[in-house]
Amino acid sequence: MTQHTLFVCTTCASTWENGKRVGISGGERLLAQLAQQHAEWELREQFTLQPVSCMSACDRPCAVAFAAPGKHTFVFGKLSADEATLPEKAAAVLNCAELYFEKPDGLLAWAERPKPMRTVVSRVPPLSAARSA
Ligand code: FES
Repeated sequence: MTQHTLFVCTTCASTWENGKRVGISGGERLLAQLAQQHAEWELREQFTLQPVSCMSACDRPCAVAFAAPGKHTFVFGKLSADEATLPEKAAAVLNCAELYFEKPDGLLAWAERPKPMRTVVSRVPPLSAARSA
């Protein structure tokens, strides 16, 4: 079975003082919520949850991405890390990841994605498609 990865930026929505990050970032809060839901998720064995330090979507925090061999890679942004809506945001990420998992090419139409997942920062074609284009 193809292994899928859910990347989560842990630097997004950070607070900076004198050039140093202080406290817990919004990305770290989102990751913690995702980890909690991921542990109970039916696709937890198929989707690796992987923290990353940046995906160049810094002006649209928080950012997550889906990637898998042979599929388009999607980077999503504007997932606010507001404490009150974090569980709902994390659920939307995992619901969207389920759609991604079901698609052989990973293509996700705007209208079928949960509302919090409608800001796509980039969509990169699979390596095989890029080579033949
Ligand atoms: S800090 Fe999160 S994408 Fe750059």
